[in-house]
Amino acid sequence: MATAQAFDVLIIGSGAAGLSLALELAPRLQVAVIAKSRLQEGCTLYAQGGISSVTHPEDSFDAHIRDTLDAGAGLNNPEAVRYAIEAAPAAIHQLVDLGVPFTRHPEADQAPDFHLTREGGHSARRVLHSADATGRAIEETMASQARQRGNISLFEHHIAVDLITGARAGPNTNRCLGAYVLNRKQKHVEVFAARFVVLATGGASKVYLYTSNPDTSSGDGIAMAWRAGCRVANMEFNQFHPTCLYHPKAKSFLVSEAVRGEGGRLLLPDGEPFMQRFDPRGDLAPRDIVARAIDHEMKRLGLEYVLLDISHKPAPFIREHFPTIYARCRELGYDLTLEPIPVVPAAHYTCGGVMTDLRARTDVPGLYAVGEVACTGMHGANRMASNSLLECVVFASAAGKDIMAQLESAPAPPALPAWDESRVRDSDEEVVVSHNWDELRRCMWNYVGIVRTSKRLERASRRVQLLLQEIQEYYSNFTISGDLLELRNLAQVAELIIRSAQHRKESRGLHYTLDYPEADPGKPEDTILIPDTSMDTAAARRRAGQ
Ligand code: FAD
Ligand code: SIN
Repeated sequence: MATAQAFDVLIIGSGAAGLSLALELAPRLQVAVIAKSRLQEGCTLYAQGGISSVTHPEDSFDAHIRDTLDAGAGLNNPEAVRYAIEAAPAAIHQLVDLGVPFTRHPEADQAPDFHLTREGGHSARRVLHSADATGRAIEETMASQARQRGNISLFEHHIAVDLITGARAGPNTNRCLGAYVLNRKQKHVEVFAARFVVLATGGASKVYLYTSNPDTSSGDGIAMAWRAGCRVANMEFNQFHPTCLYHPKAKSFLVSEAVRGEGGRLLLPDGEPFMQRFDPRGDLAPRDIVARAIDHEMKRLGLEYVLLDISHKPAPFIREHFPTIYARCRELGYDLTLEPIPVVPAAHYTCGGVMTDLRARTDVPGLYAVGEVACTGMHGANRMASNSLLECVVFASAAGKDIMAQLESAPAPPALPAWDESRVRDSDEEVVVSHNWDELRRCMWNYVGIVRTSKRLERASRRVQLLLQEIQEYYSNFTISGDLLELRNLAQVAELIIRSAQHRKESRGLHYTLDYPEADPGKPEDTILIPDTSMDTAAARRRAGQ
């Protein structure tokens, strides 16, 4: 048995989801937050456009709900949508109270107080923002608050390896009891025990070669929950953001949809606007439609990119509303105020994930999932812009309330088995890990991208099965590293994505296949995958020295 660090709540992940939950619980509970990189790193930090909430007197919950359902192509869970949207104004108040500096309306006494921008799919201006760096404003405010709270213990550069459940630890319960965590600086695995464990690990867009996401988005939470026995849903709905800057030195740099919300237009190289040909909402159609239209035009004309142009707006307006994007473009030689910029779609958001209910509970008792890792049903087959940060804070609050309500009945975890490395050795071929990373992400980009076919999915499936076998062998024989853990998780998530995509014999929302180009007119159904934990549990037991 191992000496474990014990907490009331272990939160794995320090983005908007993890930190807002930690701040909600900290007054009463001992909370540990672990982050696999530095505390602020994760998608939240890079979020640009904003967070949606009905705040204007002429807007309504019903309109926000309608737009969200429309973008989600019939697959949203209407209860989750209504719950989140009605809870949004209170969540915004909490963020303001924490100190998040949302951009104010230029005329201070005019309602609403905050400037509202607009993005794809929204029928009204309802996106609160902090210029074009909303995520940074939220993340830095929350991180600074978390650092000041005595009850929150922060563990940076700690990467969770696997969850510890009753099935792994011995007692006759499948409750989640903690996690094995690799301390990346000291290179050893520690045991964290907790009465409740929360996955707030973000999405899995790093499974694709080109992505707007930082390196943290390797699907760790989805893979860990799957191995622990949780169902995952709707993994085929991978969102591609239409406009990432096309430049060899601009790895992952997003150009916010708010640029189109404020009048920016997509153009072909000869200056022709083209979105109206694809959807009456033109440049502000939901993201699946815009990304597919760009992909179509690029393939039709053999283009490497299309153009995004907002130079017709006054230069001071552009610099004031988009200071981050303006500055980054200038560094790379483009002037947003004078000329169109080259853009391409890239993987952006994981709509599917670990299945949760409205309290953020998963299938495993004591285990919650909040934020992009979760599938609450809010986004259906396509997430509408700026609904993700909203989902993070609203469902973190729901999880917090449920944890407080369950406190009395939640047992303190028993002694947990130590991590056993006695049968593994240092790898003499670490380069294999980076080769496999590259192969996996390229395969997903080529065969499981914006436009799919049954044949391409079959090809992807064969390659990923082989990679999974090789990675599992490597994992069983060699000392673990952060890169190996992420590769193992990404390969697992890739397999779940492909299997889900093969299961869906229709095109809906973000899943578009040439073999079934229409939506099935019958009742739309979620793709739910149910794990068979027997094999993985055996492997985990070996590691846990049993
Ligand atoms: P993240 O913020 O991604 O945080 C994940 C955390 O989990 C990190 O702390 C990471 O270190 C940790 N972690 C992961 N795995 C492990 C592990 N194994 N062990 C320990 N820690 C781990 N959404 C909007 O609503 N509005 C926007 O304007 C917007 N703009 C965006 C712009 C960009 C460029 C990107 C990439 C996304 C944008 N999104 C936006 C989406 C939104 O930012 C994310 O969906 C949201 O921030 C996810 O928050 P999260 O807390 O779930 O995860
Ligand atoms: C953006 O600013 O375009 C991203 C918004 C989002 O992903 O919700």
